[in-house]
Amino acid sequence: MNRTSARAVRPDAPILLFDSGVGGLSVLAELRALLPDAPIIYAADLAGLPYGEKSEAEIAARVSGLLGRMAERFAPRLICIACNTASTIALGMVREVLNTPIVGTVPAIRPAAALTRSGVIGLLGTAATIRQAYVDELEAAFAPDKLLLRHAAPELVAAAESRLRGIPVERDVFRRAAEGLRAMPGGDRIDTVVLACTHFPLVATDLADAFGAGVRFIDGASGIARRIADLTRDQQFARSGPGLAVTSGPLDELERLAEAFAAYGIEDLTAL
Ligand code: DGL
Repeated sequence: MNRTSARAVRPDAPILLFDSGVGGLSVLAELRALLPDAPIIYAADLAGLPYGEKSEAEIAARVSGLLGRMAERFAPRLICIACNTASTIALGMVREVLNTPIVGTVPAIRPAAALTRSGVIGLLGTAATIRQAYVDELEAAFAPDKLLLRHAAPELVAAAESRLRGIPVERDVFRRAAEGLRAMPGGDRIDTVVLACTHFPLVATDLADAFGAGVRFIDGASGIARRIADLTRDQQFARSGPGLAVTSGPLDELERLAEAFAAYGIEDLTAL
């Protein structure tokens, strides 16, 4: 993808981060560290959450339809699909229909393959992500000599959503995710776990407790943030105030997340 010409981009043009729910905040945290002055719009498809339990056709239709509407309404300089499920299914399609540069999120299998010493990598994602051919291709390209064990953990999406709404989450949820991988043949030798859903870094501490010592976690957030910084490196940024969050669903759903969003510098909330 080519960088947009510096002159064509207005300094107040936002970067739009898109996810089904709060998962994109794990990407926003890394992005803020690199681009503190970037105007941000965070878009959550709360009406469509969770994506992981939907069909490919449904996800592709939602993501391309919503991003088309948002691109028209907010004229972002760049869109980041901060969601593995949406990216592994709809990235190509969205790039074909929008002129805006799009950065996607893909499971961090390549860095995990470089990190593992035991040769056994665990991957936690949504049910929709772990069955994608995109993941098979990453495995074949970057981890052909490793054992990659995949486990769908939809409960972790719900856990992150609850946690950020201030709702307590039972520890068993994290134990079940760890056991799901450990119980697979070779699972006892996992030393590296790919968090292939942007929601999961938000509960990484609980996951680390559940897996115990000797397991490293890796996700794509810092790589995505670097990619965005690189693509916009000749552009000016002028941030005039707090960021904006927009939801596809009712505003009161988003308002329950006000405190969590404020912690990431997002204070204006609106419905699409
Ligand atoms: N945050 C999304 C991801 O990275 C998925 C959450 C969902 O199931 O909606 O895959």
